[in-house]
Amino acid sequence: MPSPETKPTILVVDDEQRSREGLRRLLRDKYEVVLAENAAAALEALDRGPVDVMLSDVRMPGGDGLSLLRQVRAKHPATACVLLTAFGSVETAVEAIKLGAQDFIMKPITDIDKLELVLERARRACALEHENRELHRRLDDRFGLEGIVGSSPAMERLFDVIRQAAPTQATVLIEGASGTGKELVAQAIHHLSPRSSGPFVAVQCGALPATLLESELFGHEKGAFTGAIERRKGRFERADGGTLFLDEISEIDLSVQVKLLRVLETRQFERVGGTETLSTDIRIIAATNRDLKAYVAEGKFREDLYYRLDVVGIRMPTLAERATDIPMLCDHFVKEFAPRNGRRILGIEPAALAVLQAYTWPGNVRELRNAVEKMVVLSRGDLLTVQDVPANIRDGAESAARTSPEPVPTESLAQAEKRKILAALSDAGGNRSRAAEALGISRRTLHRKLAAWGVSGRDPAP
Ligand SMILES: Nc1ncnc2c1ncn2[C@@H]1O[C@H](COP(=O)(O)OP(=O)(O)OP(=O)(O)O)[C@@H](O)[C@H]1O
Ligand SMILES: [Mg+2]
Repeated sequence: MPSPETKPTILVVDDEQRSREGLRRLLRDKYEVVLAENAAAALEALDRGPVDVMLSDVRMPGGDGLSLLRQVRAKHPATACVLLTAFGSVETAVEAIKLGAQDFIMKPITDIDKLELVLERARRACALEHENRELHRRLDDRFGLEGIVGSSPAMERLFDVIRQAAPTQATVLIEGASGTGKELVAQAIHHLSPRSSGPFVAVQCGALPATLLESELFGHEKGAFTGAIERRKGRFERADGGTLFLDEISEIDLSVQVKLLRVLETRQFERVGGTETLSTDIRIIAATNRDLKAYVAEGKFREDLYYRLDVVGIRMPTLAERATDIPMLCDHFVKEFAPRNGRRILGIEPAALAVLQAYTWPGNVRELRNAVEKMVVLSRGDLLTVQDVPANIRDGAESAARTSPEPVPTESLAQAEKRKILAALSDAGGNRSRAAEALGISRRTLHRKLAAWGVSGRDPAP
């Protein structure tokens, strides 16, 4: 709650001078009021200083309130947005909410208490949302990205690709074995994209026969086939404004592949049994645990569709390829399952971790997650021990150890940090100021760490 001296700032955007002034009078007791007569002036005001709430008219000459809303949500996420809509224009109000407005108020404003209530609620909701995002970001810095845990080089590369691809509209193809986290990555891309306030719609393409999948994706008109008793919207329509996740894409029948290709090329389609051409605003992410290239070679998957999907290609590492992430993942899953099962678990003893790291994990992270859940539930003490490791994993780890004399390398946090810092330094061509900036640490901290590792010397002359 701001103290009385620091009133929250409200930006009132309206092209009519009289309603602007009217709103100023209504609000000046509780808010620091800033006025703007159009979208451009509003954006300038936002650039000048922080604004807690923006109250904007929807209809204004020269760029309407909705496009202003879109820009403010993208550029100033900490500013709550409330739109003034003409009485009865429900569609606009719905559109405003879809674009991320916290709330809307119908004109004319008759109830000042209600206005204050709506504004205050919007301000708080937005502040909370912002705080959550910040918290998430800080946690991600320590544990990965958007709940994807990992700090191995393979995962760092994955995070880079996700960060780079997320803000774009590019279609993404995620390939990887079962349980490696493909769906998690798809969700992360959606959450980090400008579409995050839109829907994330997932379709298990392998679960349905071709005709059903077609109507599931594209929808159908009443009477399109036996049993189509009414018109139904498909997933393409439902994902409008958001992301459509096509899981198990390799299992799509060739007949449906043609239609999918057309949507990818034109964003247009017809419902099954329909003649009206519909368009949709979606981003597509596809995933497969098969070798899709091999499917193309065998004629089971259209080559043109493959290339349409594979604009950004992501290959998920198996868990065995990133065994150094196992301690961190275990920690993450213990924290997930212990409270849920009313258990207090302090951690996993090193010997048990060594067993888990020696195992080959054919079911990847999903299998590890299940194993940790089992260990948490069945353990006797507050430390998970070798005895708590499920027998099949212990046996598997033993035979793996016998066939591969090379111990699985484990990387401590300090080692991971060192590797990261040295990589940043090399990326920056040895320039310490730039490396420190890229790492988000002070130059002094960087200096201290390098000195501790015996790395000395100065920045090369620019
Ligand atoms: N890096 C990770 N960090 C934390 N949890 C993870 C990670 N990778 C996977 N998981 C968890 O493991 C389980 C399996 O992940 P997910 O469903 O994304 O795998 P998938 O690749 O889609 O598998 P499938 O091919 O079988 O559909 C989920 O519970 C997910 O939350
Ligand atoms: Mg999956």
